Amino acid sequence: MIPFRQPLVLRGFVFGYDEPVNALIPQVKQLEPRSGHFEFRPGTRLSANAPAFDIARSLVSGLGNALQGPLEASGAGAEAGIHLGLDPASGLGPEAYRLEVTPAGIELEAAAEAGLFYGVQTLSQLLPAEGTGVVPCLSIHDEPRFPWRGAMLDVSRHFMPKPFILKFIDLLARHKLNTFHWHLTDDQGWRIEIKRYPRLTEVGSVRACTLIGHDRQRPRRYDDTPHGGYYTQEEIREVVRYAAKRHVTIVPEIDMPGHMQAAISAYPELGNTDMKLQPRCHWGISQHILNPQAGTVRFMQGVLEEVLELFPGSFVHVGGDEAVKHEWQESRAAQERMQELGLQSEEALQGWFIGQMNDFLRSRGRRLIGWDEILDGGLPAGATVTSWRGLDAARRAAELGHDTVSAPTACTYFDYYQSEDVASEPLAIGGFIPLEKVYAFEPVPEGLSAEQARHVLGGQAQLWTEYMPSPDQVEYMAFPRLCALAEVLWTPAELRGSFAAFEARLRSHLKRLDALGVNYRPLDRPGET
Ligand code: ACM
Repeated sequence: MIPFRQPLVLRGFVFGYDEPVNALIPQVKQLEPRSGHFEFRPGTRLSANAPAFDIARSLVSGLGNALQGPLEASGAGAEAGIHLGLDPASGLGPEAYRLEVTPAGIELEAAAEAGLFYGVQTLSQLLPAEGTGVVPCLSIHDEPRFPWRGAMLDVSRHFMPKPFILKFIDLLARHKLNTFHWHLTDDQGWRIEIKRYPRLTEVGSVRACTLIGHDRQRPRRYDDTPHGGYYTQEEIREVVRYAAKRHVTIVPEIDMPGHMQAAISAYPELGNTDMKLQPRCHWGISQHILNPQAGTVRFMQGVLEEVLELFPGSFVHVGGDEAVKHEWQESRAAQERMQELGLQSEEALQGWFIGQMNDFLRSRGRRLIGWDEILDGGLPAGATVTSWRGLDAARRAAELGHDTVSAPTACTYFDYYQSEDVASEPLAIGGFIPLEKVYAFEPVPEGLSAEQARHVLGGQAQLWTEYMPSPDQVEYMAFPRLCALAEVLWTPAELRGSFAAFEARLRSHLKRLDALGVNYRPLDRPGET
């Protein structure tokens, strides 16, 4: 057990120390500085009690050249430099940790592996980016504000290769983010191998061409390069294992009943018309949606069956956004289906469709999550809502006793521009979300009771990739805004200091991103005021 003194709560500053301590991102919950420092030397010992041994081993590689000593399996030992303890009886929360640095050594304690992992992330930030081995003495008690700290990445509009997916997950974990919402399907490309429906990737993963310039420009112009790519089930298993080691849960998204043009191109019987379709070559919202027949419901449940085998997390995202109902209004079969089911509107028909997926997921012990349109057709039992069209849906969901994740366009759509001077920026979809706006984001809508507010699980960034053709461009749009969001979601609201204080820490933090080869947007771009 680590002796733990009553901590002093500090507002984003640690007095008496220079950069490394000040530059923790996200800021920790409680930090008490002490005098002196601990120095890593060749031969510094690392020890761990048995349950913490594996994570201790990963610490050795994670801390790089700062730590070269042998690893002891158990027992703190008099000369041990750094000791990790996993103690389920410590009274700490599942993601909490305590970290004590004294001249004699470093002690890290948690009740669960996630807590140890986050303690190790903090410790690695306490070491200067250059990797010299001095850590200032201090005492930290830390835990997150929210359990859902995430980022969504769209790999349909532009396919992102597996090595980048791994790098992105690693970057999430280093910022103590724990949820990767993987948007795997959309009109422009189907990116997940489904063994029972091979045409989904054979046909659905490749579009013939891609729009040049912005979707608003007329006339539209296209390149003549097919764009494709998908993840095999084996690759997905590897990504899931990699994420699990970093305490990142993957929430796969199969977006339905809209955003399905690629799937309907592969299996026309899923659609409402005889029109021959292809994966879409430009952006915007396709009019083509799934038909509401029993065979289509079974098909999608078959897709989910394989998704469940690949992704062990509780949540499966079924989209539900922007499903244009025009084809259902025009289709005699869809209208008959509505009557048969005794439904009064196309919205209710979508509610029924999503309800079928909900029943399927619940019967297998999983939880459905969908974009906030799933509120419009009547929220199915136990469903969780990703609130994107503002936070009104988050409020409504919480009032109804449903869990919700805050992902509003105004603060978390990282496909929006980072400068008002758009001519100086790479082409983006529009909008304007500077770093300061992300840092000011409050995920809990006003007016909720404390009990209702507990339904707000947290928040996440959105990286829609229409205008992000490469991993480099994703990094440019994601960072450093994700650093700000990580602090919003981890650090107690009352400890969020001024933006200037955050920015000062961020300047040091960017050296870490440099070391990791991240193509972030520099803070002081030429021409910025
Ligand atoms: C969305 O932006 N269509 C969820």
